[in-house]
Amino acid sequence: MTILVTGGAGYIGSHTCVELIAAGHSPVVIDNFCNASAESVKRVEKITGKKIKLYEGDVRDAKLLDRIFSENKIDSVIHFAGLKAVGESCAKPIEYYDNNLVGTLVLLDSMRRHGCKKIVFSSSATVYGTPERLPLDEECKTGGTTNPYGTSKYFQEIMLRDVFASDNEWTVVLLRYFNPVGAHESGTIGEDPKGIPNNLTPYIAKVAIGELKEVGVFGDDYDTPDGTGVRDYIHVVDLAKGHVAAIEKTSASGVYTYNLGTGIGYSVLDVIHAFEKACGRKLPYSIKPRRAGDIAACYADAGKAKRELGWEAKLGIDEMCASLWKWQTQNPKGYNS
Ligand code: NAD
Ligand code: UFG
Repeated sequence: MTILVTGGAGYIGSHTCVELIAAGHSPVVIDNFCNASAESVKRVEKITGKKIKLYEGDVRDAKLLDRIFSENKIDSVIHFAGLKAVGESCAKPIEYYDNNLVGTLVLLDSMRRHGCKKIVFSSSATVYGTPERLPLDEECKTGGTTNPYGTSKYFQEIMLRDVFASDNEWTVVLLRYFNPVGAHESGTIGEDPKGIPNNLTPYIAKVAIGELKEVGVFGDDYDTPDGTGVRDYIHVVDLAKGHVAAIEKTSASGVYTYNLGTGIGYSVLDVIHAFEKACGRKLPYSIKPRRAGDIAACYADAGKAKRELGWEAKLGIDEMCASLWKWQTQNPKGYNS
């Protein structure tokens, strides 16, 4: 299949292109490089030995999308392009709603014009807001999101459902990711956050390499086994393979929703200790106040993806930390190394 991958130069998009090519598909990438560079696409080409058709531009540019659909026979779209930083979204809600909601609308409109009615969408566990129960299954209530980023994901899910309701020829796959971490085993592609990382594992990696002094643990008084926040960390390569399964196994029209997680929750201290094993030394950390907007625990019931897509996460926390450490040591300054 020829698959348009929006945001394909980004962290999850680049890993997904590797797995799409490994499964015999041809990704066509559009990315405006607002949070990535063409270097990641070059590295994917190096890993796979295949050339990738790359369009530099914005998914809100209808003319460019029309050109892409005219120049390529696109079978389906995987839509990663969007802004994703929770904290930044509170300071820049207009930019977030513009990029994420308008981007999706312009894309859907162009898909409709060109008769391409199959889309896999990057959603997030964020849409569950404060979990009504754990583990989170796909029937849990959504909404009650606590920041514009999460609200944009919730709205985009609704928009996609409405598109299907208006035209039952569409196939819409909503993939709700838990916490993607780690890197490709080659250590040549990975997450390249700009400035000081907001997320836990890139922050730990920068402490391990000596760029940052210590890990701040945001709260140790949650109702969790060791008092620190619990999350369902999923290896980015497993997550990427989940997209291949979603593309291949959902041939009938409809709306499909899947959690992509491991089903296992690890605390912040668990992750720090797992990373110590990977990098071979003790890592300094100190307990800080809770971070605004954080929840105590969040982990998936990933059974539906296993039953219906035949997909399950295979890689554990040790592989996640080891691959991240390899990427970090081989690329201390990310793609600018
Ligand atoms: P990323 O920032 O690395 O990738 C997003 C890519 O989209 C970047 O390459 C960026 O340059 C591009 N982009 C952004 N806006 C664009 C636009 N208007 N037009 C064209 N390109 C644009 O982020 P990621 O971690 O790879 O996330 C991919 C998707 O998965 C996002 O939609 C994100 O919200 C979602 N997601 C991520 C996580 C996570 O923790 N990483 C969790 C849940 C969901
Ligand atoms: N944490 C720390 N110190 C840090 C960073 C994080 O203790 O320096 C803690 C947080 O408090 C939380 C855990 O580590 O308990 C994970 O935090 P992250 O920032 O890595 O991830 P979140 O669970 O907050 O959110 C991430 C993405 C969202 C996505 C969500 C999906 O940032 O975009 O996972 O579950 F929607």
